[in-house]
Amino acid sequence: MILDNSLNKILIVDFGSQFTQLIARRIRELGVFSDIVSHKKIKLNQINQSVKGIILSGGPLNVYQINKYSFDKKILGLDIPILGICFGHQILSKLNGGIVKQSKHREFGLANVIKKNNSLLTNNFFGTKKSKVVWMSHADQVSKLPKNFKVIASSSNSKFAIVENKIKNFYGVQFHPEVTHTENGKKLISNFIFLICKIRRNWSSKDQKRKLIKNVRAQVGDNKVICALSGGVDSSVVAQLLNKAIGKKLYCIFVNTGLLRKNEEAQVVQTFKKKLKINLIYVNAEKEFLNKLKNVSDPEKKRKIIGNLFIKIFERYAKKIKNVKFLAQGTLYPDLIESKSVTGSQTSKIKSHHNVGGLPKKMNLKLLEPLKFLFKDEVRKLGLELNLSNEIISRHPFPGPGLAIRMPGIITNEKIKILKEADYYFIQALRDHGLYHKIWQAYAALLPVKTVGVMGDNRTYEYLCLLRAITSEDGMTADFYEFKKSFMQTISNKIVNSIRGINRVVYDITSKPPSTIELE
Ligand code: XMP
Repeated sequence: MILDNSLNKILIVDFGSQFTQLIARRIRELGVFSDIVSHKKIKLNQINQSVKGIILSGGPLNVYQINKYSFDKKILGLDIPILGICFGHQILSKLNGGIVKQSKHREFGLANVIKKNNSLLTNNFFGTKKSKVVWMSHADQVSKLPKNFKVIASSSNSKFAIVENKIKNFYGVQFHPEVTHTENGKKLISNFIFLICKIRRNWSSKDQKRKLIKNVRAQVGDNKVICALSGGVDSSVVAQLLNKAIGKKLYCIFVNTGLLRKNEEAQVVQTFKKKLKINLIYVNAEKEFLNKLKNVSDPEKKRKIIGNLFIKIFERYAKKIKNVKFLAQGTLYPDLIESKSVTGSQTSKIKSHHNVGGLPKKMNLKLLEPLKFLFKDEVRKLGLELNLSNEIISRHPFPGPGLAIRMPGIITNEKIKILKEADYYFIQALRDHGLYHKIWQAYAALLPVKTVGVMGDNRTYEYLCLLRAITSEDGMTADFYEFKKSFMQTISNKIVNSIRGINRVVYDITSKPPSTIELE
């Protein structure tokens, strides 16, 4: 494990929490550099002068399963401020001589913490009410504090919800300040890094860009890379990043799966080949995809078939180009979380995103995923830093499997044609009404149901079109967008009147969770 020691930083020791990357993200947002290192890999001699503070993450372990985690106790003697979060708080207490026990009541969700004492960590955190709503997720808790530790705040279930040892600069919080559900949680992190660790701001999108370019160059060496370019935000940013990092060693491949939005292929070729002068290969594989997907209706099967075929095509072209070692793609952190557990914790698999879980087990190309620890809004900022246009950067996300997963049931040419039109009218209407940029993602889907309608005194029996429009921060959770009735009327009329094959339009009013953004 190579850590970057060129900048002062906060070191995050990861014990397998789902939220470790969120801690890193909060620190980036505060303009400070951080490195994450697994508890299994951290070595005492890696912690040098550049480490100004250490955060111990949460995790699914418990402090008495000594053989399941490793943490060198000597780290506590380095005279570096430490903040323990959830499991990190428990292990910090245990290693200092405190006692951790299974709680009488497991505590998941929101809880109220009440201020007991002043601390630098909670400076301007509580406000006048002297209490805050925080997000808890734990089954164990500290039951006896170590020597020289003091309670800063308690909740009804956790007496030691916030604690400190001022002499050693050790702090522990039983809840998760990094998640947005914790009111003012970022303030705690900010207090830790600025007031306690006394680190200065040293990180921006520009630094992010430089670091990623440096990493890509180091990883790629003299090899060639093919990049799966879909024209969506993520793959566009990866393509442009690689273009800047390795120039001619990059070959972008745009595959027309036949499951793209209307006019998409023409737009992508125009932008990347003509405007950005990127080395772009256009592959028309419509027939191949549609043949393989014939009569397939199971969502996971669709995803796997598409993922496999993408790789087959990339490998075919890699052979033609010669000396290609890497396949680059725009995988982001939320894609990883939802496809599989990145940390080895118990996160369950929701669906196989085509560029992650949908890949074949055996691949000749190595994956290059430079954005895999970033969140969507961070990728957009990076894209602007890389001089991509606002038009590309602010596009709604579009999944790799494309219209295949917006068409539950079997896929036919007729359905694709109808759906492309419906989606086009919907997105166009959003643009015309100034709504496109207020919405995080929107699309039309075609449901495998026909219903009866009446048009011009005649009976119709046609498909049901579902519209989905959501607001979200990073696609992990989402809310449906509340349109005005007049807009809904306009778009419903437009779709039904213009498209033969649809006689009814419905609007999806579920949030995520319990639904997901895509239908499959
Ligand atoms: P879900 O449906 O999982 O979607 O709530 C979350 C976000 O991920 C996008 N998505 C994908 N993106 N390949 C991708 O590149 C995929 O296989 C895939 N599946 C879903 C989805 O459009 C939404 O933005």
